[in-house]
Amino acid sequence: MSGAFTPVDIDAKIPNNVGLADDRRLQRALENWQPRFLQWWRDLGPVAFKENPVYLRTAVSVGRDGWANFDHVSMPEYRWGVFLADPEPDRTIAFGDHRGDAAWQEVPGEYRSDLRRLLVVQGDTEPASVEQQRHLCLTAPSLYDMRNLFQVNVEEGRHLWAMVYLLHRYFGRDGRDDADEMLERHSGDLDNPRILGAFNEQTPDWLSFYMFTYFTDRDGKYQLASLRESGFDPLSRTCDFMLKEEAHHMFVGATGVGRVVERTVQLMKDHDTDDISRYGGIDVDTLQKYINFHFSVSLDLFGAETSTNAANYFAAGLKGRFKEESRADDHLLHDLTRMVPEVVDDRITQREAPMLTALNETLREDYADDCVGGLNRWNRTLAEVGRELKLPHIGFNRAVGNFRDHHVSPDGRLLSDAEWNADVANWLPTAHDRAHVESLMAGVTEPGRIAGWLAPPSTGIHQQPVDYDYVRL
Ligand SMILES: [Fe+2]
Ligand SMILES: [Fe+2]
Repeated sequence: MSGAFTPVDIDAKIPNNVGLADDRRLQRALENWQPRFLQWWRDLGPVAFKENPVYLRTAVSVGRDGWANFDHVSMPEYRWGVFLADPEPDRTIAFGDHRGDAAWQEVPGEYRSDLRRLLVVQGDTEPASVEQQRHLCLTAPSLYDMRNLFQVNVEEGRHLWAMVYLLHRYFGRDGRDDADEMLERHSGDLDNPRILGAFNEQTPDWLSFYMFTYFTDRDGKYQLASLRESGFDPLSRTCDFMLKEEAHHMFVGATGVGRVVERTVQLMKDHDTDDISRYGGIDVDTLQKYINFHFSVSLDLFGAETSTNAANYFAAGLKGRFKEESRADDHLLHDLTRMVPEVVDDRITQREAPMLTALNETLREDYADDCVGGLNRWNRTLAEVGRELKLPHIGFNRAVGNFRDHHVSPDGRLLSDAEWNADVANWLPTAHDRAHVESLMAGVTEPGRIAGWLAPPSTGIHQQPVDYDYVRL
Protein backbone atom coordinates (compact mmCIF):
# COMPACT_ATOMS: atom_id res chain seq x y z
CA MET A 1 0.00 0.00 0.00
CA SER A 2 1.02 3.62 0.11
CA GLY A 3 4.31 4.59 1.64
CA ALA A 4 6.19 1.49 0.50
CA PHE A 5 9.19 2.14 -1.71
CA THR A 6 9.36 -0.60 -4.31
CA PRO A 7 12.87 -1.45 -5.49
CA VAL A 8 13.75 -1.15 -9.16
CA ASP A 9 13.80 -4.44 -11.02
CA ILE A 10 16.05 -3.37 -13.85
CA ASP A 11 16.75 -6.82 -15.33
CA ALA A 12 13.11 -7.85 -15.69
CA LYS A 13 11.65 -8.29 -19.16
CA ILE A 14 9.86 -5.01 -18.45
CA PRO A 15 12.12 -2.94 -16.16
CA ASN A 16 9.97 -1.52 -13.37
CA ASN A 17 9.68 -0.29 -9.83
CA VAL A 18 6.06 -1.30 -9.41
CA GLY A 19 6.60 -4.87 -8.24
CA LEU A 20 5.46 -6.47 -11.49
CA ALA A 21 6.99 -9.81 -10.50
CA ASP A 22 4.51 -10.00 -7.60
CA ASP A 23 1.47 -9.70 -9.86
CA ARG A 24 1.73 -12.49 -12.39
CA ARG A 25 -1.53 -11.73 -14.20
CA LEU A 26 -0.60 -8.12 -14.77
CA GLN A 27 2.94 -9.10 -15.71
CA ARG A 28 1.64 -11.59 -18.27
CA ALA A 29 -0.77 -9.04 -19.73
CA LEU A 30 1.95 -6.42 -20.13
CA GLU A 31 4.42 -8.97 -21.51
CA ASN A 32 1.74 -9.77 -24.04
CA TRP A 33 1.41 -6.10 -25.01
CA GLN A 34 5.21 -5.68 -25.23
CA PRO A 35 5.77 -7.45 -28.59
CA ARG A 36 2.90 -5.44 -30.08
CA PHE A 37 4.50 -2.25 -28.88
CA LEU A 38 7.80 -3.36 -30.45
CA GLN A 39 6.04 -4.19 -33.69
CA TRP A 40 4.45 -0.72 -33.66
CA TRP A 41 7.91 0.77 -33.06
CA ARG A 42 9.33 -1.14 -36.02
CA ASP A 43 6.40 -0.15 -38.26
CA LEU A 44 5.86 3.47 -37.20
CA GLY A 45 8.94 4.48 -35.23
CA PRO A 46 11.98 6.12 -36.91
CA VAL A 47 12.19 5.12 -40.59
CA ALA A 48 15.97 4.65 -40.62
CA PHE A 49 18.99 4.01 -38.36
CA LYS A 50 16.82 1.31 -36.85
CA GLU A 51 19.71 -0.81 -35.61
CA ASN A 52 22.47 1.78 -35.18
CA PRO A 53 23.87 2.29 -31.68
CA VAL A 54 22.60 5.63 -30.32
CA TYR A 55 23.96 7.39 -27.23
CA LEU A 56 20.75 7.30 -25.20
CA ARG A 57 19.60 8.05 -21.72
CA THR A 58 17.65 5.20 -20.16
CA ALA A 59 15.64 5.56 -16.97
CA VAL A 60 16.97 3.07 -14.42
CA SER A 61 15.82 4.54 -11.13
CA VAL A 62 13.67 7.39 -9.86
CA GLY A 63 15.85 8.96 -7.14
CA ARG A 64 16.93 12.56 -7.15
CA ASP A 65 20.38 11.82 -8.58
CA GLY A 66 21.54 9.09 -10.88
CA TRP A 67 18.10 8.20 -12.22
CA ALA A 68 19.33 7.61 -15.76
CA ASN A 69 22.07 5.70 -17.50
CA PHE A 70 23.80 6.96 -20.70
CA ASP A 71 25.17 4.48 -23.19
CA HIS A 72 25.09 3.46 -26.85
CA VAL A 73 22.09 1.20 -27.50
CA SER A 74 20.28 0.26 -30.66
CA MET A 75 16.70 1.44 -30.35
CA PRO A 76 14.84 -1.85 -30.58
CA GLU A 77 16.89 -2.87 -27.53
CA TYR A 78 15.97 0.24 -25.58
CA ARG A 79 14.75 -0.76 -22.12
CA TRP A 80 11.28 0.74 -22.03
CA GLY A 81 10.17 0.43 -18.44
CA VAL A 82 7.49 1.38 -15.94
CA PHE A 83 8.63 3.83 -13.29
CA LEU A 84 6.65 5.73 -10.71
CA ALA A 85 8.24 8.44 -8.58
CA ASP A 86 8.71 7.41 -4.96
CA PRO A 87 5.50 7.78 -2.95
CA GLU A 88 5.09 10.76 -0.71
CA PRO A 89 4.23 9.29 2.71
CA ASP A 90 0.72 10.17 3.93
CA ARG A 91 0.00 12.27 0.87
CA THR A 92 -3.37 14.01 0.96
CA ILE A 93 -5.49 15.47 -1.85
CA ALA A 94 -4.71 19.17 -2.23
CA PHE A 95 -7.83 20.48 -3.98
CA GLY A 96 -11.44 19.92 -4.84
CA ASP A 97 -14.24 18.39 -2.83
CA HIS A 98 -11.94 15.68 -1.39
CA ARG A 99 -9.34 18.18 -0.21
CA GLY A 100 -7.59 16.84 2.88
CA ASP A 101 -8.56 13.19 2.27
CA ALA A 102 -5.83 10.57 1.93
CA ALA A 103 -4.75 10.18 -1.72
CA TRP A 104 -6.36 7.15 -3.41
CA GLN A 105 -4.30 4.05 -4.06
CA GLU A 106 -7.14 2.50 -6.08
CA VAL A 107 -9.55 4.08 -8.53
CA PRO A 108 -12.74 5.33 -6.83
CA GLY A 109 -15.65 3.68 -8.64
CA GLU A 110 -17.49 6.94 -9.33
CA TYR A 111 -14.47 8.43 -11.13
CA ARG A 112 -13.50 5.37 -13.11
CA SER A 113 -14.64 6.55 -16.53
CA ASP A 114 -13.29 10.11 -16.11
CA LEU A 115 -9.88 8.84 -15.03
CA ARG A 116 -9.79 6.34 -17.84
CA ARG A 117 -10.54 9.13 -20.33
CA LEU A 118 -7.72 11.31 -18.91
CA LEU A 119 -5.24 8.44 -19.23
CA VAL A 120 -6.31 7.58 -22.77
CA VAL A 121 -6.07 11.18 -24.03
CA GLN A 122 -2.65 11.70 -22.43
CA GLY A 123 -1.40 8.28 -23.54
CA ASP A 124 -2.52 8.80 -27.13
CA THR A 125 -0.29 11.86 -27.59
CA GLU A 126 2.89 9.92 -26.76
CA PRO A 127 3.07 7.46 -29.69
CA ALA A 128 1.46 10.12 -31.91
CA SER A 129 4.52 12.35 -31.73
CA VAL A 130 6.81 9.43 -32.55
CA GLU A 131 4.73 8.80 -35.67
CA GLN A 132 4.79 12.48 -36.61
CA GLN A 133 8.58 12.60 -36.35
CA ARG A 134 9.50 9.31 -37.98
CA HIS A 135 11.02 10.72 -41.17
CA LEU A 136 13.14 13.40 -39.52
CA CYS A 137 16.14 11.13 -38.92
CA LEU A 138 16.85 11.20 -42.67
CA THR A 139 17.49 14.95 -42.58
CA ALA A 140 19.06 15.46 -39.16
CA PRO A 141 21.34 18.53 -39.22
CA SER A 142 23.97 16.69 -37.12
CA LEU A 143 24.52 13.45 -35.23
CA TYR A 144 23.98 15.42 -32.03
CA ASP A 145 20.52 16.45 -33.23
CA MET A 146 19.70 12.98 -34.53
CA ARG A 147 20.51 11.59 -31.11
CA ASN A 148 18.24 14.16 -29.44
CA LEU A 149 15.41 13.24 -31.82
CA PHE A 150 15.80 9.56 -30.94
CA GLN A 151 16.02 10.39 -27.24
CA VAL A 152 12.73 12.24 -27.43
CA ASN A 153 11.20 9.39 -29.45
CA VAL A 154 12.18 6.56 -27.10
CA GLU A 155 10.99 8.56 -24.10
CA GLU A 156 7.63 9.28 -25.70
CA GLY A 157 7.48 5.51 -26.15
CA ARG A 158 8.20 5.12 -22.43
CA HIS A 159 5.45 7.62 -21.63
CA LEU A 160 3.08 5.40 -23.56
CA TRP A 161 4.25 2.52 -21.35
CA ALA A 162 3.54 4.66 -18.30
CA MET A 163 -0.11 5.19 -19.29
CA VAL A 164 -0.54 1.63 -20.52
CA TYR A 165 0.67 0.31 -17.17
CA LEU A 166 -1.98 2.36 -15.35
CA LEU A 167 -4.68 1.22 -17.77
CA HIS A 168 -3.72 -2.44 -17.38
CA ARG A 169 -3.23 -2.31 -13.64
CA TYR A 170 -6.34 -0.36 -12.65
CA PHE A 171 -8.93 -0.69 -15.43
CA GLY A 172 -9.15 -4.40 -16.21
CA ARG A 173 -10.56 -5.48 -19.56
CA ASP A 174 -11.46 -1.88 -20.55
CA GLY A 175 -7.94 -0.70 -19.84
CA ARG A 176 -6.41 -3.52 -21.87
CA ASP A 177 -8.65 -2.59 -24.80
CA ASP A 178 -7.62 1.06 -24.42
CA ALA A 179 -3.96 0.02 -24.45
CA ASP A 180 -4.47 -1.96 -27.65
CA GLU A 181 -6.18 1.00 -29.30
CA MET A 182 -3.16 3.21 -28.53
CA LEU A 183 -1.33 1.19 -31.17
CA GLU A 184 -4.25 1.20 -33.62
CA ARG A 185 -4.96 4.93 -33.94
CA HIS A 186 -2.26 6.63 -36.02
CA SER A 187 -1.23 10.22 -36.51
CA GLY A 188 -2.87 11.65 -39.62
CA ASP A 189 -4.84 8.44 -40.31
CA LEU A 190 -8.11 9.58 -41.87
CA ASP A 191 -10.06 6.55 -40.65
CA ASN A 192 -8.53 6.23 -37.21
CA PRO A 193 -6.65 9.42 -36.26
CA ARG A 194 -5.00 10.36 -32.98
CA ILE A 195 -7.41 11.99 -30.54
CA LEU A 196 -6.08 15.58 -30.51
CA GLY A 197 -5.73 17.81 -33.57
CA ALA A 198 -2.13 18.97 -33.13
CA PHE A 199 -1.05 15.33 -33.04
CA ASN A 200 -2.38 14.70 -36.52
CA GLU A 201 -0.34 17.56 -38.04
CA GLN A 202 2.86 16.65 -39.80
CA THR A 203 6.31 17.40 -38.45
CA PRO A 204 7.88 17.64 -41.91
CA ASP A 205 11.16 19.43 -41.15
CA TRP A 206 13.56 20.18 -38.32
CA LEU A 207 12.39 23.73 -37.76
CA SER A 208 8.93 22.24 -37.14
CA PHE A 209 10.50 19.67 -34.82
CA TYR A 210 12.19 22.33 -32.68
CA MET A 211 8.96 24.34 -32.62
CA PHE A 212 6.98 21.22 -31.71
CA THR A 213 9.29 20.33 -28.83
CA TYR A 214 9.27 23.93 -27.62
CA PHE A 215 5.53 24.61 -27.88
CA THR A 216 3.73 21.26 -27.98
CA ASP A 217 5.91 19.30 -25.54
CA ARG A 218 5.39 22.27 -23.22
CA ASP A 219 1.65 21.68 -23.41
CA GLY A 220 2.56 18.16 -22.27
CA LYS A 221 4.42 19.63 -19.31
CA TYR A 222 1.34 21.54 -18.21
CA GLN A 223 -1.02 18.60 -18.65
CA LEU A 224 1.35 16.31 -16.74
CA ALA A 225 1.90 18.88 -14.02
CA SER A 226 -1.84 19.18 -13.43
CA LEU A 227 -2.24 15.39 -13.46
CA ARG A 228 0.64 15.13 -10.98
CA GLU A 229 -1.73 16.89 -8.55
CA SER A 230 -4.25 14.08 -8.98
CA GLY A 231 -5.83 12.45 -5.96
CA PHE A 232 -5.24 9.13 -7.75
CA ASP A 233 -1.77 8.58 -6.34
CA PRO A 234 -0.38 6.14 -8.97
CA LEU A 235 -1.20 8.71 -11.68
CA SER A 236 0.40 11.48 -9.67
CA ARG A 237 3.61 9.47 -9.18
CA THR A 238 3.67 8.44 -12.84
CA CYS A 239 3.40 12.02 -14.08
CA ASP A 240 5.97 13.21 -11.59
CA PHE A 241 8.55 10.94 -13.16
CA MET A 242 7.48 11.69 -16.75
CA LEU A 243 8.07 15.38 -16.11
CA LYS A 244 11.72 14.61 -15.42
CA GLU A 245 12.13 13.23 -18.93
CA GLU A 246 9.94 15.91 -20.49
CA ALA A 247 12.33 18.68 -19.41
CA HIS A 248 14.91 17.48 -21.94
CA HIS A 249 12.34 17.57 -24.75
CA MET A 250 11.69 21.25 -24.15
CA PHE A 251 15.44 21.84 -23.88
CA VAL A 252 15.78 20.37 -27.38
CA GLY A 253 13.17 22.83 -28.63
CA ALA A 254 14.46 25.91 -26.83
CA THR A 255 18.09 25.35 -27.81
CA GLY A 256 17.11 24.18 -31.31
CA VAL A 257 15.21 27.37 -32.13
CA GLY A 258 17.93 29.33 -30.35
CA ARG A 259 20.61 27.86 -32.63
CA VAL A 260 18.55 28.68 -35.72
CA VAL A 261 18.16 32.27 -34.48
CA GLU A 262 21.90 32.48 -33.81
CA ARG A 263 22.74 31.38 -37.35
CA THR A 264 20.09 33.68 -38.83
CA VAL A 265 21.61 36.67 -37.05
CA GLN A 266 25.11 35.64 -38.13
CA LEU A 267 24.06 35.46 -41.79
CA MET A 268 22.21 38.79 -41.56
CA LYS A 269 25.36 40.44 -40.22
CA ASP A 270 27.70 38.72 -42.68
CA HIS A 271 25.63 39.70 -45.71
CA ASP A 272 24.09 42.88 -44.37
CA THR A 273 20.56 41.89 -45.37
CA ASP A 274 17.30 40.55 -43.91
CA ASP A 275 16.85 38.31 -46.93
CA ILE A 276 19.19 35.49 -46.03
CA SER A 277 17.30 32.65 -47.71
CA ARG A 278 19.64 32.76 -50.71
CA TYR A 279 22.56 32.27 -48.29
CA GLY A 280 21.05 29.06 -46.95
CA GLY A 281 19.44 30.57 -43.87
CA ILE A 282 15.93 30.95 -42.45
CA ASP A 283 14.85 34.58 -42.21
CA VAL A 284 13.19 36.14 -39.18
CA ASP A 285 9.81 36.48 -40.91
CA THR A 286 9.72 32.74 -41.55
CA LEU A 287 10.67 32.00 -37.93
CA GLN A 288 7.84 34.27 -36.81
CA LYS A 289 5.34 32.41 -39.00
CA TYR A 290 6.42 29.04 -37.60
CA ILE A 291 6.03 30.40 -34.06
CA ASN A 292 2.56 31.72 -34.94
CA PHE A 293 1.54 28.31 -36.23
CA HIS A 294 2.93 26.13 -33.46
CA PHE A 295 1.85 28.41 -30.62
CA SER A 296 -1.73 28.63 -31.89
CA VAL A 297 -2.23 24.90 -32.51
CA SER A 298 -0.75 24.20 -29.07
CA LEU A 299 -3.18 26.65 -27.42
CA ASP A 300 -6.01 24.59 -28.88
CA LEU A 301 -4.79 21.56 -26.92
CA PHE A 302 -6.02 23.14 -23.68
CA GLY A 303 -9.65 22.96 -24.86
CA ALA A 304 -12.48 25.48 -24.67
CA GLU A 305 -12.21 28.46 -22.30
CA THR A 306 -15.01 27.12 -20.15
CA SER A 307 -15.67 23.44 -19.68
CA THR A 308 -17.83 21.49 -17.29
CA ASN A 309 -15.50 18.51 -17.74
CA ALA A 310 -12.59 20.58 -16.44
CA ALA A 311 -14.73 21.73 -13.49
CA ASN A 312 -15.76 18.16 -12.72
CA TYR A 313 -12.19 16.84 -12.94
CA PHE A 314 -11.09 19.50 -10.47
CA ALA A 315 -13.98 19.12 -8.03
CA ALA A 316 -13.46 15.35 -8.09
CA GLY A 317 -9.75 15.71 -7.32
CA LEU A 318 -8.65 14.10 -10.59
CA LYS A 319 -6.78 16.99 -12.23
CA GLY A 320 -5.50 20.03 -10.39
CA ARG A 321 -3.96 23.30 -11.49
CA PHE A 322 -0.32 23.93 -12.30
CA LYS A 323 1.49 24.13 -8.94
CA GLU A 324 -1.79 23.70 -7.10
CA GLU A 325 -0.29 23.77 -3.63
CA SER A 326 1.51 27.07 -4.07
CA ARG A 327 -1.72 28.91 -4.94
CA ALA A 328 -3.15 31.18 -2.29
CA ASP A 329 -6.87 30.42 -2.55
CA ASP A 330 -9.20 27.88 -0.97
CA HIS A 331 -8.45 25.16 -3.61
CA LEU A 332 -12.20 24.56 -3.87
CA LEU A 333 -12.99 27.52 -6.15
CA HIS A 334 -16.75 27.32 -5.58
CA ASP A 335 -17.27 31.05 -5.09
CA LEU A 336 -14.49 32.46 -7.27
CA THR A 337 -14.66 33.86 -10.79
CA ARG A 338 -12.21 34.97 -13.44
CA MET A 339 -12.35 36.73 -16.80
CA VAL A 340 -12.27 34.74 -20.01
CA PRO A 341 -11.84 36.17 -23.50
CA GLU A 342 -14.72 36.08 -25.95
CA VAL A 343 -15.97 37.80 -29.07
CA VAL A 344 -19.19 39.83 -28.85
CA ASP A 345 -20.59 42.09 -31.58
CA ASP A 346 -17.37 42.14 -33.59
CA ARG A 347 -15.31 43.01 -30.58
CA ILE A 348 -12.80 40.98 -28.54
CA THR A 349 -13.85 41.37 -24.96
CA GLN A 350 -13.95 39.45 -21.69
CA ARG A 351 -16.67 38.00 -19.55
CA GLU A 352 -16.72 36.80 -15.99
CA ALA A 353 -16.94 33.05 -15.60
CA PRO A 354 -16.90 30.72 -12.59
CA MET A 355 -13.26 29.90 -11.80
CA LEU A 356 -14.12 26.20 -11.73
CA THR A 357 -15.43 26.04 -15.28
CA ALA A 358 -12.63 28.31 -16.57
CA LEU A 359 -9.78 26.03 -15.52
CA ASN A 360 -8.71 25.31 -19.09
CA GLU A 361 -8.19 29.02 -19.55
CA THR A 362 -6.16 29.24 -16.35
CA LEU A 363 -3.86 26.42 -17.49
CA ARG A 364 -3.59 27.93 -20.98
CA GLU A 365 -2.60 31.26 -19.45
CA ASP A 366 0.10 29.64 -17.29
CA TYR A 367 1.38 27.89 -20.41
CA ALA A 368 1.43 31.05 -22.52
CA ASP A 369 3.36 32.90 -19.79
CA ASP A 370 5.91 30.09 -19.76
CA CYS A 371 6.34 30.28 -23.55
CA VAL A 372 7.59 33.85 -23.25
CA GLY A 373 10.84 32.71 -21.61
CA GLY A 374 12.32 31.24 -24.76
CA LEU A 375 11.30 34.22 -26.87
CA ASN A 376 13.05 36.55 -24.46
CA ARG A 377 16.26 34.56 -24.83
CA TRP A 378 16.02 34.39 -28.63
CA ASN A 379 15.28 38.10 -28.72
CA ARG A 380 18.50 38.91 -26.89
CA THR A 381 20.33 37.43 -29.90
CA LEU A 382 18.02 39.14 -32.39
CA ALA A 383 18.58 42.52 -30.71
CA GLU A 384 21.98 42.58 -32.45
CA VAL A 385 20.16 43.08 -35.74
CA GLY A 386 17.26 45.09 -34.37
CA ARG A 387 14.67 42.35 -34.79
CA GLU A 388 12.25 40.66 -32.41
CA LEU A 389 10.01 37.57 -32.27
CA LYS A 390 6.60 37.74 -30.59
CA LEU A 391 3.88 35.37 -29.52
CA PRO A 392 0.72 36.02 -31.52
CA HIS A 393 -2.52 37.11 -29.85
CA ILE A 394 -4.33 34.29 -28.03
CA GLY A 395 -7.17 34.46 -30.60
CA PHE A 396 -4.94 34.04 -33.65
CA ASN A 397 -5.55 30.96 -35.84
CA ARG A 398 -7.61 29.11 -33.27
CA ALA A 399 -9.73 26.08 -34.07
CA VAL A 400 -11.03 25.45 -30.53
CA GLY A 401 -12.94 27.71 -28.14
CA ASN A 402 -14.40 31.21 -28.38
CA PHE A 403 -12.15 32.37 -31.22
CA ARG A 404 -12.87 29.36 -33.37
CA ASP A 405 -15.24 31.09 -35.78
CA HIS A 406 -13.33 34.38 -35.94
CA HIS A 407 -10.28 35.68 -37.72
CA VAL A 408 -7.85 37.48 -35.43
CA SER A 409 -4.57 39.05 -36.53
CA PRO A 410 -1.36 38.28 -34.61
CA ASP A 411 -1.64 41.73 -32.99
CA GLY A 412 -5.18 41.03 -31.82
CA ARG A 413 -7.46 42.77 -34.35
CA LEU A 414 -10.71 41.10 -35.39
CA LEU A 415 -10.72 40.70 -39.18
CA SER A 416 -13.17 40.03 -41.96
CA ASP A 417 -12.63 37.01 -44.19
CA ALA A 418 -11.27 39.29 -46.90
CA GLU A 419 -8.81 40.99 -44.54
CA TRP A 420 -7.65 37.62 -43.22
CA ASN A 421 -7.18 36.17 -46.69
CA ALA A 422 -5.25 39.24 -47.80
CA ASP A 423 -2.66 38.88 -45.05
CA VAL A 424 -2.58 35.28 -43.91
CA ALA A 425 0.50 34.57 -46.06
CA ASN A 426 2.38 37.07 -43.89
CA TRP A 427 1.34 35.30 -40.72
CA LEU A 428 1.39 31.56 -41.30
CA PRO A 429 3.98 29.50 -43.20
CA THR A 430 3.12 29.37 -46.90
CA ALA A 431 3.85 26.48 -49.24
CA HIS A 432 6.76 28.59 -50.45
CA ASP A 433 8.15 29.07 -46.92
CA ARG A 434 7.82 25.38 -46.19
CA ALA A 435 9.50 24.48 -49.46
CA HIS A 436 12.44 26.72 -48.60
CA VAL A 437 12.83 25.21 -45.13
CA GLU A 438 12.54 21.76 -46.64
CA SER A 439 15.20 22.61 -49.25
CA LEU A 440 17.67 23.19 -46.40
CA MET A 441 17.04 19.77 -44.88
CA ALA A 442 19.91 17.49 -45.82
CA GLY A 443 21.16 14.86 -43.42
CA VAL A 444 24.60 15.57 -41.94
CA THR A 445 26.14 12.41 -40.51
CA GLU A 446 29.80 13.27 -39.92
CA PRO A 447 30.59 13.64 -36.20
CA GLY A 448 30.96 17.32 -35.28
CA ARG A 449 29.64 18.69 -38.56
CA ILE A 450 26.46 20.83 -38.48
CA ALA A 451 24.14 21.87 -41.32
CA GLY A 452 24.55 25.49 -42.46
CA TRP A 453 21.11 26.76 -41.40
CA LEU A 454 21.73 26.54 -37.67
CA ALA A 455 24.59 27.14 -35.22
CA PRO A 456 26.34 24.26 -33.42
CA PRO A 457 25.18 23.44 -29.89
CA SER A 458 27.18 25.12 -27.15
CA THR A 459 27.84 21.82 -25.33
CA GLY A 460 27.40 18.13 -25.96
CA ILE A 461 25.21 15.62 -24.15
CA HIS A 462 26.15 14.31 -20.70
CA GLN A 463 29.64 15.89 -20.78
CA GLN A 464 30.51 14.37 -24.15
CA PRO A 465 32.06 16.69 -26.76
CA VAL A 466 29.91 18.16 -29.54
CA ASP A 467 31.79 16.04 -32.12
CA TYR A 468 31.13 12.78 -30.24
CA ASP A 469 29.73 9.88 -32.28
CA TYR A 470 26.24 10.19 -30.82
CA VAL A 471 24.92 7.81 -33.47
CA ARG A 472 27.29 5.09 -34.73
CA LEU A 473 26.88 4.54 -38.43
FE1 LIG B 1 5.69 12.56 -23.43
FE1 LIG C 1 7.81 15.02 -24.71
